[in-house]
Amino acid sequence: MRPAVSARAGRIPKGNLAELFVLARSRGAIDLAVGTPEAPETPRPLVEEAVRALRSGANQYEFPQGGANVRRAIAASFATPADPDTELTITVGGTEALCVALFSLVDPGDEVILLDPYYENFLGAVELAGARPWFVQMREPGPDDPDWRLDPEELAAAFGPATRAIVLNTPANPTGQTLTIEELELIAELCERWDVTVIADEVYSRLVFDDRPHLSVTDVPALRDRSVVVGSLSKSHAISGWRLGFLRARPELTTVFRRVHEITTNGAAAPLQLAAGLTDLFDAGTLTAAKELSQARDETADILTRMGLTFRMPQGGCFILADIRGATDEDCRAYVRRVLDRSSVLLAPGTPFFADEERGRNYVRVAFNRTPETLAAARSRLLP
Ligand SMILES: Cc1ncc(COP(=O)(O)O)c(C=O)c1O
Repeated sequence: MRPAVSARAGRIPKGNLAELFVLARSRGAIDLAVGTPEAPETPRPLVEEAVRALRSGANQYEFPQGGANVRRAIAASFATPADPDTELTITVGGTEALCVALFSLVDPGDEVILLDPYYENFLGAVELAGARPWFVQMREPGPDDPDWRLDPEELAAAFGPATRAIVLNTPANPTGQTLTIEELELIAELCERWDVTVIADEVYSRLVFDDRPHLSVTDVPALRDRSVVVGSLSKSHAISGWRLGFLRARPELTTVFRRVHEITTNGAAAPLQLAAGLTDLFDAGTLTAAKELSQARDETADILTRMGLTFRMPQGGCFILADIRGATDEDCRAYVRRVLDRSSVLLAPGTPFFADEERGRNYVRVAFNRTPETLAAARSRLLP
């Protein structure tokens, strides 16, 4: 008998947190596993405008490319400007943007490079596009180098005639690492040599800490025309349920992306786009997410250090990827389970973020986009 589902769908990795979530919820545990924002607070003007937009009757299809106002606001927010009419498409979250990019750029059998560890949806989306993932292991932080580092030789060896795209993520989930100009220039050189497109997930571009600016692939001249950028308002504006993201690319690609996007969703929620377009979306006064989250990062880092975990301090994003070997001999699943049983706090096991389970077994991922109250409660449960 033929399998009921496609081979592509069958290859999507199974989310294996579900069981833990059910257990955690039934016990009223504090969830530090998922990235759903509890902080910052959703900006009040966005909520007010959304209500007004619904009441005003903006309840039908928007043009698939997205509302003009929101495209303009997003395009104007980049360090290297984009044309909102020809280079930007509003998508249903960064999640759809990634799928549209992959479906538009790669054919079944093509190779797509992923930096490992990675956000787990990258692998599922590559599989769904029928492409083959090629993993490049980031070197773990150690005494000589506290960063997650790309190994230039391993990176160079990953490129070949079958390579069609490389997925980057800066700042990254789960490591919090940002890619340096040197790393991006090396990637540019290899992409040029092998004619490869960069798909850069920059959904955490607004969550970069310690007064550092976000370095986008579009700010690197050698990458600008080779890159497409996946973006999102989910975390920066704490509207993950609104499902507003975007895809930035040069005009010829944008034309194709918009066609594919008509097939995948035909557009994001019209009243929510309208609301986002009517507020000062990126006004420093209304967007203090990075400052708030850097304090939450510091608080979370202190708790984890006191638990005996070690980690690279995230430069951006909303996660800490912590090595548990200083605290336990268990693998991450047993450790997560024990912390849940003992302290009623849920952490995420590291294995889904690594191609090699053996590497992932030593890590947990901790989300810190939480309120000071939640973190204080987590502290008292974890460090009684
Ligand atoms: C790296 C990365 N990209 C994309 C997403 C999904 O973003 P969105 O809510 O915009 O679909 C997430 C969510 O956790 C993420 O961590």
